[in-house]
Amino acid sequence: MIVSPSLLAADFTRLSEEIDMINRSEADWLHLDIMDGVFVPNISFGFSVLDAIKPICKKPLDVHLMIVEPEKFIGRIAELGAMMMNVHYEACTHLNRTIHEIHEAGMKAAVTLNPSTPVCMLADVIKDVDMVLLMTVNPGFGGQSFIEHSLDKVVELRQLIKATGSKALIEVDGGVNKTTAPKLAEAGVDVLVAGSYVFKAEKPEEKIKELKQL
Ligand code: DX5
Ligand code: ZN
Repeated sequence: MIVSPSLLAADFTRLSEEIDMINRSEADWLHLDIMDGVFVPNISFGFSVLDAIKPICKKPLDVHLMIVEPEKFIGRIAELGAMMMNVHYEACTHLNRTIHEIHEAGMKAAVTLNPSTPVCMLADVIKDVDMVLLMTVNPGFGGQSFIEHSLDKVVELRQLIKATGSKALIEVDGGVNKTTAPKLAEAGVDVLVAGSYVFKAEKPEEKIKELKQL
């Protein structure tokens, strides 16, 4: 399993220690949640925080943009050296163009679906994307409960990937914990994002290790 801890649940008063923990851990990537208060009803952190993280984080950056018009920031996210840029299907009017622009900027491209958006909406882009991020809670906040129907969406997405010969990875985000993670692994997920489950734990590195073993 690929594990991408979500920094949203970290203690921001000791951010460099939290990043050190990620660097030491078995985490594969670091998941960064950017919110604009428009696409989602919350605001997280922006470029001043991302620029501070960039030089100290040794793991590839998995950037999840919960913002309107994410295409405006492709150049800026590329400058950050991000490995993956996740844009929401619901926020992109010209998704095909946005995916190609992300690739031209040298990053991998992922499309994210809200819980209410069906998997079939990806039929015409699935071969162009490196990853699909299925939201397993409504985006905007950490610590919410996993939406069980997401498991059916994972299975459906796996079928779409197989049928089209796409190489897209399946990532899930929201409510990942000891109970939901094994079910998600069983359903065919490649990447687990986990915020509260990792950062609120007494021994976060052990939680990461546990998810890695799935
Ligand atoms: C929610 C964010 C998530 C969030 C997950 O909108 O996209 O990445 O940090 O938090 P947990 O794992 O606590 O549900
Ligand atoms: Zn996220």
